[in-house]
Amino acid sequence: MTNTIELQNRLERAPVVPLVVPDDPESAIKTTRALVAGGLSVVEVVLRTPAAVDCLAEVVKAVPEAIVGAGTVLSEQHAKQVVQAGAQFIVSPGLYEPVVRFAQAQDLPVFPGITTPSEAQNAWNMGLRSLKFFPASLAGGPAMLKAIGSVFKDVKFMPTGGVSAANLGDYLALPNVLACGGSWLTPRAAIAEDNYQIITDLAAEAVAIAVKTRS
Ligand code: 3PG
Repeated sequence: MTNTIELQNRLERAPVVPLVVPDDPESAIKTTRALVAGGLSVVEVVLRTPAAVDCLAEVVKAVPEAIVGAGTVLSEQHAKQVVQAGAQFIVSPGLYEPVVRFAQAQDLPVFPGITTPSEAQNAWNMGLRSLKFFPASLAGGPAMLKAIGSVFKDVKFMPTGGVSAANLGDYLALPNVLACGGSWLTPRAAIAEDNYQIITDLAAEAVAIAVKTRS
């Protein structure tokens, strides 16, 4: 069971959610540990590889100090699988009501992706107040979030897609940004070389940007 307050507290302290693309349990676990070592303990394991659900379950067991969510959850069946694997929150690229309703019935935080005011309004009417904004850079970046924020005053966003160390501060400067997500923290080349220190350093850099922007 996810402790929503704990999730909020951690995102307040370090408002960055790295993507873990799981090829095998060992590298997914090492990647997650490297991120935690760098100060990022909320991670999203994405369902984009055949081994993803198994990897998610292994990461949940092996790294209890992390809050591990599932990303790229496209269907209710995916949602059921990731809950069984121990996912502590659910992220989707788009807004699909059965996934939202399933997560709500489980009391699980859910962040469906939106890019337009209509989608945001639909999500708002499903009772959601935290949404993914994806693909953030192509959908208008910080300027778009600022415009949407002027209408959806009680909604927080998680921009993802094209976020990097270069623009993280621009997003985090906005009061309606809960956290930024992204894959820039987990480069595949570093994982292939077994060089997890790179991932720890990237996580620490993101934490430093967040502290500087939000203090
Ligand atoms: C996502 O699933 O949120 C995106 O694929 C992440 O986008 P990025 O690779 O540009 O960070």
